Amino acid sequence: MGAVRLYFTYILFLYILFNSQVLAMWPIPQSWSIGSETLKVFPSLDINCANIETSEELTQQIFEGAKNRVKEFLTDENYVSPNVHFETPENSLTLHSLTIEITGDKSSKLDLGIDESYELMIPCTNDKNDKPLIAHLKAATIFGVLHGLNTFTQLLYSNEEKNGLFLPFAPHNISDYPRFPHRGLLLDTARNYYPVNDLLKMLDVMSWNKFNVFHWHVVDAQSWPVKSEVYPELSEKGAYDPETMIYTKQDIETIVEYAHHRGIRVIPEFDMPGHTFAISYSMPEIITCPDVQPNWNDFAAAPPSGQINPVLPATYEFLNNLIPEMTSWFPDKFYHAGGDEVVMNCWNTTDSVIDYLKEHPNDTYESLLGMFINELHSLVRKSGKTPITWQEMVVEHNLPLPKDVIVQVWTTQEIIKNVTERGYKVITGSADFWYLDCGHGGWVGDNPNGNSWCDPFKHWQRIYSYNPTKNLTKEEAKLVIGGEALLWSEQADPTNFESKLWPRASSAAEILWSGNYDESGNLRTTKEALPRLNDWRFRMVARGIKAEPLQPLWCVKNPGRY
Ligand SMILES: *[C@@H]1O[C@H](CO)[C@@H](O)[C@H](O)[C@H]1NC(C)=O
Ligand SMILES: *[C@@H]1O[C@H](CO)[C@@H](O)[C@H](O)[C@H]1NC(C)=O
Ligand SMILES: *[C@@H]1O[C@H](CO)[C@@H](O)[C@H](O)[C@H]1NC(C)=O
Ligand SMILES: *[C@@H]1O[C@H](CO)[C@@H](O)[C@H](O)[C@H]1NC(C)=O
Ligand SMILES: *[C@@H]1O[C@H](CO)[C@@H](O)[C@H](O)[C@H]1NC(C)=O
Repeated sequence: MGAVRLYFTYILFLYILFNSQVLAMWPIPQSWSIGSETLKVFPSLDINCANIETSEELTQQIFEGAKNRVKEFLTDENYVSPNVHFETPENSLTLHSLTIEITGDKSSKLDLGIDESYELMIPCTNDKNDKPLIAHLKAATIFGVLHGLNTFTQLLYSNEEKNGLFLPFAPHNISDYPRFPHRGLLLDTARNYYPVNDLLKMLDVMSWNKFNVFHWHVVDAQSWPVKSEVYPELSEKGAYDPETMIYTKQDIETIVEYAHHRGIRVIPEFDMPGHTFAISYSMPEIITCPDVQPNWNDFAAAPPSGQINPVLPATYEFLNNLIPEMTSWFPDKFYHAGGDEVVMNCWNTTDSVIDYLKEHPNDTYESLLGMFINELHSLVRKSGKTPITWQEMVVEHNLPLPKDVIVQVWTTQEIIKNVTERGYKVITGSADFWYLDCGHGGWVGDNPNGNSWCDPFKHWQRIYSYNPTKNLTKEEAKLVIGGEALLWSEQADPTNFESKLWPRASSAAEILWSGNYDESGNLRTTKEALPRLNDWRFRMVARGIKAEPLQPLWCVKNPGRY
């Protein structure tokens, strides 16, 4: 079977090499063999999944939703590719139906590490009895079915004459599964606000790219858009607009459910104790060194400065009320508790903290941080969830956190080894490769000749060259559960975030789904990826997404020529 696969890969390779024929699919399946027939497809294509019992109501609903989305693509998309060309003979056969089978647990829940694999077979010949052509999609879970359906939609093209919808290069035999179980996208909705509909649209694009985690960096120093019911004053005073620039419990439910129906988990992040100035609008008493001007950079990594005070009973009362509420609004088993960029100078210039240390001579600023994080994480655990932390709590502060805590590395790729050596599971996606915000100059506006802190701009090729398990031993590599592309919103908002995300985040998505190496062990190259990514970018544009261009159209239409 390995030899058969190798053979198909080889044929695929030769086909691309000698025909300069572009075969597009993003992210590329682990195993994919093709033929040379073109099938016709009509919007009336019968899509059925016979074996979901009526008792599996949620699974049934997820399936119906996905089916309707495929139907919409069949009706509306009519995508004409600039670089995928195919024959449309008069006598092309018609694909009559797509039959789906869930082979595993039909009520399986979306969670880290569930089976997302699928197999998609599209035949090209009728059997002897002249029966209609039937494609088969098989997956262990409904979430594998969703990925398979997204793959199916990428096989459909219209042509220049726009005389219908075609499925070229049949027969197809696709066998696919993800390289990493955690494939995330971080969006920061605090530095600038995004309406709910923008987030829903982003979730659609994420699902097409086979992302399965929305890391929602929901609050930060600049604003607190979440309308807590326990502490409504947080957003009444801390949101940019307490009426229009907020997320209510209902909004969050809508987003979480929409994501779930697309195979995406929502992991919220309430960053603490740093990055919390926005809390001081309503609870100034628990925030130290608020908005120090003009020397903010002695007190915080970014303005406005402010950290939660670790020694006040009022702080712990706040956590005890807020954390259970927020964890209960997000069903995922993980909760990101923040923990980046704590600056001790913010605490050691605060009277109450200084006095506390005088009374507790065995404590230190570091032990106060440990005390705060322990309390925060124990509240997360009491809600039945596992905390995720930014790298500093482990790498810089050496907190003895239990090994089930997941550590997110954000500074540089080298740190991944540091964290896995300590035995922690890691989420990768560091600023040297996967920060989508870099390269737009400093946002403080005081340095015309200056760069953004994480210059240069991370273009798709650099993103594609990131290997999340570089230099790791086998044991260390096992601890890497995946990665995230990250968009911090200092210079992004609803007007431009789609272009900042796509197709660069797609580049990360392929590394996370398909992996850095193909099934024969060859490193995936940007040269091979470019024509496919061009096609995918144009298809996303056809779906109404403002994905930015990678090349002049001439180059897109003439793949491999310069
Ligand atoms: C399809 O591919 C799978 C995995 O590569 C292989 O096991 C199977 O035999 C193939 N089926 C056909 C009909 O080619
Ligand atoms: C506070 O800590 C910083 C190091 O983070 C140190 O440079 C500074 O001198 C300390 N200040 C006081 C008042 O202890
Ligand atoms: C501080 O540490 C010393 C030495 O370990 C110990 O004898 C003392 O009891 C501790 N004090 C407090 C208040 O815990
Ligand atoms: C990998 O190892 C090489 C050689 O030791 C080193 O130069 C490089 O920085 C390492 N990269 C990572 C990401 O660890
Ligand atoms: C991890 O990083 C810390 C802080 O930079 C450093 O002190 C430590 O030596 C590093 N450990 C490893 C194993 O690289």
